Amino acid sequence: MNEEMEYFNYLNSLKRKEIKNKFSFLGEGISRRVYDLNNGLVLKLAKGREGHYQNQVEHFVYTHADLNQKKYLCPILFFTPRMIVMKKAEPLTSKIKAKYLNLKTIRPEESSFEDINNLAKRFLLLYEDIVSPTSWGSLNEKNVLIDYGCTCEEGDKYYHLIFRINRLTNLGL
Ligand SMILES: Nc1ncnc2c1ncn2[C@@H]1O[C@H](COP(=O)(O)OP(=O)(O)O)[C@@H](O)[C@H]1O
Ligand SMILES: [Mg+2]
Repeated sequence: MNEEMEYFNYLNSLKRKEIKNKFSFLGEGISRRVYDLNNGLVLKLAKGREGHYQNQVEHFVYTHADLNQKKYLCPILFFTPRMIVMKKAEPLTSKIKAKYLNLKTIRPEESSFEDINNLAKRFLLLYEDIVSPTSWGSLNEKNVLIDYGCTCEEGDKYYHLIFRINRLTNLGL
């Protein structure tokens, strides 16, 4: 096993309380608590079922997005439904106090508005979250989505179905 995988497996072996004691707490949403791993990475720990769901969606989006879409996503390095390890970004909420972002100016690309709208549409993401400064962070001087696990109503149905099929397939059914 390589060193990186050993490290991620070690993180995955930690109990909730150990994580809380070892790492500083960065923030939380409805479904996940986020900790600073002190090495340029953060750990997103699910609080419960909804957190498991959002971690699965985030991982699905990251692994199925095409290259042009991936540049808008904060990279995920390790995933289990219980936890995600992601690159650490500087949350935009530290600079932007407005309720909504302008997707036309959030990135240098001229096509950013169209690209991000297509991404949200393709993966059935909750648009309200996509335009919220709380979902964005700055990484290597470019803005990226740091929270892309929340889906619209249609998405809720779609992902619950495909995750169920995946579970059945994994059981060999
Ligand atoms: N990649 C990241 N880098 C730095 N901070 C992050 C990162 N991801 C999340 N955070 C912080 O943790 C908070 C909660 O994470 P988020 O993914 O929004 O959780 P939830 O899915 O429960 O809404 C964010 O608002 C942000 O402050
Ligand atoms: Mg959030």
